Amino acid sequence: MSENFTRHKIETELEVYASENNLMPQEKDLLHQAKSAIDKAYAPYSNFLVGAAVLLENGEIISGNNQENAAYPSGVCAERVAIFYASSKYPGVAVKSIAVACKTQIQEASSPCGACRQAIAEYEVRFKKPIRIIMAGQNGKVFVAQSIESLLPLMFNSKHLK
Ligand code: THU
Repeated sequence: MSENFTRHKIETELEVYASENNLMPQEKDLLHQAKSAIDKAYAPYSNFLVGAAVLLENGEIISGNNQENAAYPSGVCAERVAIFYASSKYPGVAVKSIAVACKTQIQEASSPCGACRQAIAEYEVRFKKPIRIIMAGQNGKVFVAQSIESLLPLMFNSKHLK
């Protein structure tokens, strides 16, 4: 029986760097700031320490880390701590990029959770400028998404509310 629908594949793309040394100097510095924010994370429940750093169009860098809570859902991820603080300190300044790194026993690659992707999308849509997402990977590799669209295809955003 033939299918009565059409299939549409959604492709996504990441830049993969063998080492942080292959990044542009500004992005390498941003990743370093994300990494140094890891040690100040408050994650006594998961022991999964995450750091993030946001580069704004005015050149300012704001870093943050995950902040957990005894009431688990009340905790906030590193990416949202950093991007919300950046927006509260510099309202109206576009976000250029966000770097994320984590420290775990298994050294997994860092990748923003769904809620953080949605939060990043808000600023990309608001300022109509792609946000680069720089993710520290395994064995020194670095993954870069050129836009939140690569990590959150079919996203819900303010355009749907109009
Ligand atoms: N977490 C982040 O901070 N960022 C991510 O991208 C993934 C998860 C935090 C939330 C929680 O404190 C801990 O990592 C375990 O999920």
